[in-house]
Amino acid sequence: MNIAEILSSYAQCALQDLGVSSTITVSAKPSLREALGDYQIDAIIPIAKQLRLPPRQLAEHVVEQMQTSEAVSQMVDEFSVAGAGFINIRLRTAWLANAVSALANDPRLGVAIQPATHIVIDYSSPNVAKEMHVGHLRSTIIGDASVRTLTFLGHKVTRVNHIGDWGTQFGMLIAHLEEVDRKDLLSLSDLEGFYRDAKKRYDQDPIFSRQARNYVVKLQQGDDYCRKMWRQLVDISMQQNQQNYDRLGVSLTPADIRGESAYNAMLPVIVDDLLERHIAQEEQGAVVVYLDDYKNKQGEAMGVLIRKQDGGYLYTTTDIACAKYRYQTLHADRILYYVDARQHQHLMMAWAIVRKAGYVPERVSLEHHKFGMMLDKQGQPFKTREGGTIKLSELLTEAVSRATRLIEQKSPQITGPELTELATIIGIGAVKYADLSKNRTTDYIFDWDSMLSFEGNTAPYIQYAGARIRSLLDKAHQQGLEWQGGEGLCFTTGEERALVIAILQLEERLTLVARDGMPNIMCQYLYDLASLFSRFYAHLPILVHSDVDQRKSRLYLADITGRVLALGLSTLGIGLPERM
Ligand code: ARG
Repeated sequence: MNIAEILSSYAQCALQDLGVSSTITVSAKPSLREALGDYQIDAIIPIAKQLRLPPRQLAEHVVEQMQTSEAVSQMVDEFSVAGAGFINIRLRTAWLANAVSALANDPRLGVAIQPATHIVIDYSSPNVAKEMHVGHLRSTIIGDASVRTLTFLGHKVTRVNHIGDWGTQFGMLIAHLEEVDRKDLLSLSDLEGFYRDAKKRYDQDPIFSRQARNYVVKLQQGDDYCRKMWRQLVDISMQQNQQNYDRLGVSLTPADIRGESAYNAMLPVIVDDLLERHIAQEEQGAVVVYLDDYKNKQGEAMGVLIRKQDGGYLYTTTDIACAKYRYQTLHADRILYYVDARQHQHLMMAWAIVRKAGYVPERVSLEHHKFGMMLDKQGQPFKTREGGTIKLSELLTEAVSRATRLIEQKSPQITGPELTELATIIGIGAVKYADLSKNRTTDYIFDWDSMLSFEGNTAPYIQYAGARIRSLLDKAHQQGLEWQGGEGLCFTTGEERALVIAILQLEERLTLVARDGMPNIMCQYLYDLASLFSRFYAHLPILVHSDVDQRKSRLYLADITGRVLALGLSTLGIGLPERM
């Protein structure tokens, strides 16, 4: 059920009936001011300008034309034309009641399955032999919400964890790995320390650094021993990362890993191809592509290096190869990258080369779904007190222990395994939601107190609304009360009406999240829905209502609201506890 889309199509038909070309499109959207109507169409004004017609008059004609349709009059109670030519629409309460009662036995809650496309999503993508830090948290959480949303809408989604598993640092890591105690190897819990030690020796010990450089060359040549050592490093690292994914409830698995190294064989072929077709050129032994759209300060076309003088390839070369692979081998229709905003220019340049070479056709979109940095309360990059990076695993442990303390204060009757489970759902949910609910394009301030608050646009607020619904329905069951959808639902108050409309907007919002990769749209929706439910719950008698039909209708609404909250949270990868 997508009310905006239904109304848009009716308005579109009306315009066409009035002789307006079908290339001119019009769309309806939820009204920002409840008092004016439920939906509004404001695109009539620019259309009228384009057609050189008085906008109000065109709006009135569109309304008259729409009213001739039987379907429209069943759905719409009242049209009004306001201001310069805005069309306000009030929906019929009977139509709303019918629409919401039809959701009773629908596990998808009215959300249609979209025509399937194949979408490749690059997310998380940490670097090997480095502990995942909070910076990777955003990509992992936001990317996974996008995966879940698109999958729910019926698309085929391929997750790709494009890990940084290649580069010259592996020479020193292998040399160092040779010397650490074998027993410690598999429990290499302090990867950060391992990396630091290797680097220190590389900088200080000439024999060590010679060996390290030797191993880089051997690794690149495919030497068995070096590859085996490299594999071990990758495996240990990714086993640790997998623990973070599992704790976070993120859907990535080892099967989704396809790191930078997987594209090695493609790199020389691509560089040769670009040289041959004069897209790239040799310059003092290196290979460079000049892009007209990228100029330096002097206004000269900027060169993008794709092969170094020593024959080594770059991060850009790999990204050219991986985009090509995602289209030509995986047959993606759309390719999304959840990558730090600071890599925007890098991706834009790599893709400009990809397009220039025709490796990915224009109809397949390459989208950088960028995100800002995670900052502390003072607006500084998120660091430990000593200035080090905060490890993701430690952050998650803290989230769960803070949630435990919170529950112990609020609900001391919850103990034992139930407390552990609930603290995980609330703690992890709060961290994820805090990130998801902000517009991802800006930096975001990580603040324990606000994310674990029961007030405002937070996970606990929404989870609490869900738990309250659950306990209301349990009570109703205990009292032997019944409710179902279907015929005979009656909604008489403004509180009920607003709640019904919000429930019916689930698909509208999911579609926006899917289009823009902006889970904050879903968070805002769930927050609004939970707030509307609170108003409904606070103002209207439910269990004690003497009128059986009204009581049933209200219980049904509570039930459906709970199911929308659960479904919405599930598209974000967040759980809904049974009680709190
Ligand atoms: N490994 C990179 C980093 O940690 C992110 C990779 C993003 N994906 C890509 N195709 N470049 O910064």
